[in-house]
Amino acid sequence: MPELAMVNGVVSGLDEAFVSIDDRGFVFGDGVYEVIVSYHGNLFLLDEHVDRLRRSLKFIRMEYVDVDAIVQQIHTVFAAAEIPRAKVYVQVTRGVAPRNHQFPVPAPKPTVVVTVRDFPPLPEPLFTDGISCLTRPDTRWGRVDIKTINLLPNCLAKQEAIENNCLEAIFVSAEGKVREASAANLFLVKNETIITHPANELILCGITRNALLELAERAGYAVEERSPDVEELLLADEVFLSGTTAEVLPVVRVDDQPIGQGRPGPVSLKLLGMFREWIAGK
Ligand SMILES: Cc1ncc(COP(=O)(O)O)c(C=O)c1O
Repeated sequence: MPELAMVNGVVSGLDEAFVSIDDRGFVFGDGVYEVIVSYHGNLFLLDEHVDRLRRSLKFIRMEYVDVDAIVQQIHTVFAAAEIPRAKVYVQVTRGVAPRNHQFPVPAPKPTVVVTVRDFPPLPEPLFTDGISCLTRPDTRWGRVDIKTINLLPNCLAKQEAIENNCLEAIFVSAEGKVREASAANLFLVKNETIITHPANELILCGITRNALLELAERAGYAVEERSPDVEELLLADEVFLSGTTAEVLPVVRVDDQPIGQGRPGPVSLKLLGMFREWIAGK
């Protein structure tokens, strides 16, 4: 079960995989990505990730990329790695060219990197005890709905969270509106109603977010898609995060204040249970 990389169609070990120092992803962050996980040897919600990759590429004006060929590459390297519970990282950049901001003419060959690594489960106490979060100002650009590799504000916010004994940072706008976490979407629960940010250009519309909204509907919960303010977040009965790698993660403290009873609440645990049943069948 080796961890593998594929760079422009060539499979290798992770240590042998390289891209050029003139790659526009490296120089400008001129690229987009996806993270897909597998459960029991099946790539989970692959079509949804591929649709979002197409959308991201279109936004950065790389609609000429052969996404079907990338999907084939994903299948090839995933099958070769033989890792049943894997994390598949896919990155597409505008390719290699001397450093000039404008797009190179003619367009270089896109650089396509796929890696397949182990995806061990998060420690169970994170789910049973919940996690702590820190709010941080949302200093990101105005189109965070596009899954670009420009993640410096996310990295800085996450680092500050870790330095404050928290596991995640929650981005809050200058107007005090709660957006999402540095690498996950955010939900809060008040009186059994589930509230999450609308899928507009101010958050990344998570594949897991959308899946959870379907599960919530199936479970009969009322859902409101709106941006809560920080006060509402702190007064919520429950808060939880969603993401491909976070899955459904209860949040029990924000900025050192307990959320609800300071324990994962029934709605979070119900959705986590439904999510786990779903992936168990994958
Ligand atoms: C900023 C941000 N929001 C939300 C998500 C969750 O998206 P998904 O459920 O598609 O993994 C991610 C995942 O990386 C993210 O980086």
